[in-house]
Amino acid sequence: MIGTALTMHLFCHSTLPVYAAAIAARNPCGDMEPQRSLYVLAAVAFAVSRHREREVFTQSNQRTKMRDQSADGEQAGQQRQCVDTAGAVLLILGGTTFQIPAILQAMKSGCRVITCDYLPDNPGHRLAHHYANVSTTDPQAVLAVAREFNVDGILAYASDPAALTAATVAAQLGLPGSSAHAVEILTDKVLFRTFLQRHGFRSPRFAAASSVAESQAATAGMGLPVMIKPVDSSGSKGVTRVTSPDDVAAAAVNALRYSRSSRLIVEEWIERDGVQIAGDGLVADGQLVFGGFGDEHFDSQCSPWAPVGESLPGELSDSLRVHLHDELQRLFELLGVRDLVFNLDAMIDRDGRLLVIEIGPRAGGNALPQLIELATGVDLTAIAIRQALGLVIPSSSYTRRTSRYVASHMLHSRLAGSFGGFRMAPSLHAYVTQISLIARLGDTVSRFASAKDTLGYALFEFPDERTMRKLLPTMSNDFVPVVA
Ligand SMILES: Nc1ncnc2c1ncn2[C@@H]1O[C@H](COP(=O)(O)OP(=O)(O)O)[C@@H](O)[C@H]1O
Ligand SMILES: [Mg+2]
Repeated sequence: MIGTALTMHLFCHSTLPVYAAAIAARNPCGDMEPQRSLYVLAAVAFAVSRHREREVFTQSNQRTKMRDQSADGEQAGQQRQCVDTAGAVLLILGGTTFQIPAILQAMKSGCRVITCDYLPDNPGHRLAHHYANVSTTDPQAVLAVAREFNVDGILAYASDPAALTAATVAAQLGLPGSSAHAVEILTDKVLFRTFLQRHGFRSPRFAAASSVAESQAATAGMGLPVMIKPVDSSGSKGVTRVTSPDDVAAAAVNALRYSRSSRLIVEEWIERDGVQIAGDGLVADGQLVFGGFGDEHFDSQCSPWAPVGESLPGELSDSLRVHLHDELQRLFELLGVRDLVFNLDAMIDRDGRLLVIEIGPRAGGNALPQLIELATGVDLTAIAIRQALGLVIPSSSYTRRTSRYVASHMLHSRLAGSFGGFRMAPSLHAYVTQISLIARLGDTVSRFASAKDTLGYALFEFPDERTMRKLLPTMSNDFVPVVA
């Protein structure tokens, strides 16, 4: 019933994107229940909007092409100097749902967009001008694509593994980008903890390991509980809190499974005071000029480590916010970071000290840049694109224009089964601003353990803080998948 009501609500609400209807695309008509027929109606709306999008993209493509042709002669033998987004060629690493906002934004700005990853069915590739089937973690293959299309910039967006590739390839081609050395430190948990310790930042005790035996030795030396994590993964994949020596081996095997370099970190577990801090920020010309930091939320029935949503503004006090700003500024200066949209996870420990859990050298996943734009009016996606092209970032683009109460929630399942759509409690209907589904009807879904199990997401805007605080604690009960 609730699902039906919501579908109607979605369908009637003209400002809502109709991605949600994609779930109907593979659902043949035949013996449909009323709810399913609404999905099909919504699918028609989706197809119409896609057609319109295509028209816009085709026009933009032609404009870009004309520019490229006229510029060809002048550019012979030298790296093209990018002066604006219009006509620039941008390589975006990845084509998942979470990269779609960057792909669309770049196209709207007049860029010719090339996407790549090893999954041709990822939805973003259908929107791009060109798609190359190469892995975002293969710098040599990405370099070849960048050369083939004579790109003006490379963007890693909502993906940690892609960030190192982007920095490495950009350096090789003399394109704008973060220093590969800084990105390497930020995307390797052992290197990052070593950096924190060396420069006097709060850091848990830690040890590197690459086998079960080394993990057991490290745990014995440290004492329980510990966190065991792959050094170079993300989205809480392969992350386990270990409280018994008997569980170290399984946790180590799980972490190694998700590490590209077959290395893990054994880390002292730090107890958090209050909520986890999460968000995206901006370094422009060496200064931390913007932070869209809020509270991170988890579903304790699934995983205490895999976030299922964020809300802004957060609970962090003003004094801790200033402290966070100062620590991050010092950290970026030490790393030599000049221009970067970054993702942050942090916490305050039981002694009131700030611990930076990690900094991803790229915009956040879980639609964080979209949530931050809803909250503040600052479009970090547009800014990340300009940074990737080496363009000036006007201060007006990162000045907060609004201060709204917003939250995101990842659609996730508490049990394994087959995906049959979603339900949303009527109490949430009035506050939905966007729904996007990743899973399609009939897909096999897993119990939520990490970001790879995300089925979709919704963004909400609330009229006031009281309403937001009332609804946040039950989000995981009120926006749920139908799983049979
Ligand atoms: N040392 C730690 N102590 C307490 N909690 C931790 C620790 N390390 C990680 N966590 C928790 O686990 C989550 C995932 O760990 P993280 O290092 O961010 O891995 P990933 O790169 O997969 O996101 C963090 O957001 C945090 O909630
Ligand atoms: Mg993390």
